Amino acid sequence: MKNKLEELKKKILEDLSRVKSGELLRELEIKYLGRKGELSNILRAIKDLGAEEKQEIGAIANAIKNDVSVEFERIKKEIGGKEETAGFVDVTIPGKKIACGHLHPITIIQAELEDLFKSMGFMVLDGPELESDYYNFEALNIPKTHPARDMQDTFYIDKKNQNGEYDLLMRTHTSPVQIRAMQKYGAPLRAVIPGRCFRSEATDARHEHTLYQFEGLMIGEDINFSHLKGILELVGKKLFGAETKLRMRPKFYPFVEPGTNGEYTCSLCGGKGCRVCKGSGWLEVIGAGLVHPNVLASGGIDPEKYSGFAFGFGLSRLAQLKYGIDDARLAMSGDLRFLNQF
Ligand code: PHE
Repeated sequence: MKNKLEELKKKILEDLSRVKSGELLRELEIKYLGRKGELSNILRAIKDLGAEEKQEIGAIANAIKNDVSVEFERIKKEIGGKEETAGFVDVTIPGKKIACGHLHPITIIQAELEDLFKSMGFMVLDGPELESDYYNFEALNIPKTHPARDMQDTFYIDKKNQNGEYDLLMRTHTSPVQIRAMQKYGAPLRAVIPGRCFRSEATDARHEHTLYQFEGLMIGEDINFSHLKGILELVGKKLFGAETKLRMRPKFYPFVEPGTNGEYTCSLCGGKGCRVCKGSGWLEVIGAGLVHPNVLASGGIDPEKYSGFAFGFGLSRLAQLKYGIDDARLAMSGDLRFLNQF
């Protein structure tokens, strides 16, 4: 029995020396020291021995049990320590950033302008991108045969109306919403209309077939050119800084009379002249004027009683200038190398 005990001790210590995981250690503990374990079986058998043997073997068996238990405890601590380190989480390490999108540069400018105009009591309106020939051209004083139609060629929908005409098209500007707004709200009226427009363009660095505009319309009893100028000056200062100047020169648009363009001092060179403003120091971003009497009439407003101004910003162009984007086509490209820079 003595031999059996010694052998068992050797076997246990050998097994223990190889153990690497807490799980295996627990298995061994059950196997040797558990209630039905090998060592416990021997200890239990001692009571059947003769008195002398009982004392001798009992002492050896207990000593072995002690030694082995001590070894179990030691290894348990060793492995436990390692496992704790392996599963250790340092809560002070900065976390992994969750990828999250952000606003598009055009949306940023649009929101900035909306805020400015809302603060001056303008409504923000929306209108259909698929328009009728009537709202996009006719009601804006651009008859079918008028050469001004050539300025804004568009995409027609391949479907004829009862009269055999193609009268549905992708709107070329946000101006048709001027008519819709007048018809819906009447005068007096203050509204801005951001939106997407389409033109059948040969695209290049300054032209894109899909573009964003920001239309404005104000109608009242005594609205004149100075109101228009004041508002456009304010927008320039807000977008490009307090030093920004506005220049207006006559320009023809069939739906305004008089008509004007609007140029701001180039935000990139401060008016000295650079590549972006082609050396002129000015950047053209606006079409504007006083609403033509025919257009007021199309909107159901009496041109004898009311007058108004209208303007249209190229939002895509504004974003180009504000962020120094040298190719208009990038804005709609969906290219993350471009978008991630904002
Ligand atoms: N609709 C014109 C364009 O797209 C801009 C404009 C708007 C001009 C309002 C005058 C008044 O070019």
